[in-house]
Amino acid sequence: MNFSIIQKTPIYKAFSEIGKRIFLPEGIFYWAKRAREEAELIGTLGAAYGFEKDFIDGGSNDWLPCYLKEITDYSRLTVKEIVPYTSIGGLQETREIWKEWIVQKSLYSNKEDILFSRLNKYITTPVITGGITNGIFQACSLFLNPSDSIIVPNKRWGNYDNIISKFIGAKSKSFEFFKNNRINIEGLKTAIEDVAKIQEKIVILLNFPNNPTGYVPTTEEGSTLVEMLKESQLTHEKPIIVLVDDAYEPYVFKDNVLNRSIFYDLHQLDENVIPIKLDGITKELLIYGGRIGFITLGLKPSWIENNGELQILKDEIHNKLEGFIRATISNCNSFYQVLIHKLFHEKGMEQIMQSRREVQNLLKERYDCINSELLKINNPNMSIDPNSGGFFVFLNLNANKIKATEFADRLLKQYKVGIIPIEKLDENINGIRIAYCSIDLSEIPELIKRINSALNDF
Ligand SMILES: Cc1ncc(COP(=O)(O)O)c(C=O)c1O
Repeated sequence: MNFSIIQKTPIYKAFSEIGKRIFLPEGIFYWAKRAREEAELIGTLGAAYGFEKDFIDGGSNDWLPCYLKEITDYSRLTVKEIVPYTSIGGLQETREIWKEWIVQKSLYSNKEDILFSRLNKYITTPVITGGITNGIFQACSLFLNPSDSIIVPNKRWGNYDNIISKFIGAKSKSFEFFKNNRINIEGLKTAIEDVAKIQEKIVILLNFPNNPTGYVPTTEEGSTLVEMLKESQLTHEKPIIVLVDDAYEPYVFKDNVLNRSIFYDLHQLDENVIPIKLDGITKELLIYGGRIGFITLGLKPSWIENNGELQILKDEIHNKLEGFIRATISNCNSFYQVLIHKLFHEKGMEQIMQSRREVQNLLKERYDCINSELLKINNPNMSIDPNSGGFFVFLNLNANKIKATEFADRLLKQYKVGIIPIEKLDENINGIRIAYCSIDLSEIPELIKRINSALNDF
């Protein structure tokens, strides 16, 4: 693959050294493919196969991957479905059905609509990653050299720092997430200006609903944010890559906030604000241990001259992502890839969404309850971050009076309450994250009562 089309696009300009270097070598895939098409005797595949009767008592004459007979007691999926490797980028049918899912999640209902066709045509077919974490890792590695900066909100999932600073050695350019209880778009804009002075690309990582705060932009904030990114791209004339971590995408509990990923609005922009969607089954389909995520790039019509180039560009991007997967995890768990495909294909997306609604409703009740209980606390040393969804709420504590870790320790010892303290004074954070997703509705009033009592101790 000579990457002739991708080299002409702003994504290539924004690539890290690894991003430029990585590709999936043809090697065994080339020879395996040729053997499938041309050979009579095939000795290319590094997986043991045989006639079932030769390794299973009472087995058939079918040529199957060799397997241990006991495994069939634990799954209704067939041996052919769960034993073999999937291809490096994931099972093609699962990738395609997840693309349909992404299109469905856009809420563009009219297929004739120009927005619909742009989305459908100009996104890559999702490549399957080892959970969203692996997708975040890949996306960060593609764009960040060790000394590069990536813009992140000060309130963010802690694992970003493991990936960005500890692993890659890049810098997190943090901006204060909220100002006057609204998203601090000015702060983000200033961070973009700062990075634009030192870098040829701007990389931003956004996550709504946010971990740890549960924040989702209002529709008005969402439009202002998209507009600001567009204006910044025009001003600085540098690609803005937006990594969109959609881990909690379907858990939005308020009416006046964005009810779908910001990926979609960013993708519709003609400017080089380039969104990369990172989603997966973990929370979205409530299969935490399945470890299946997806990485999908939003491309711009202006980058290519015709449909042929568009296909080549997608192939080149897939090849780079597959190069990454091959070099790190080789390929992902086949059982869950098959499961997802079956869920959507056999049960249908509507039914899956309907079943999930039960869980969404359960969480919404807890969301309403925890927020109304929190409003009853009247303590000048505590404030609640704006939250409209996700799995968490975040309480800020007055750092001069209460240290978050001491508070968490006190909560545990005296009140038998467990929460996560986050104390990063250099980023102006001192507070606790409460995961109400894992607390029954009936226990929430008691939980907040104990937190209130602990606050009064300080
Ligand atoms: C914001 C955020 N992104 C990504 C992830 C990771 O998802 P996965 O378990 O699919 O790797 C989490 C999980 O807690 C998360 O909170």
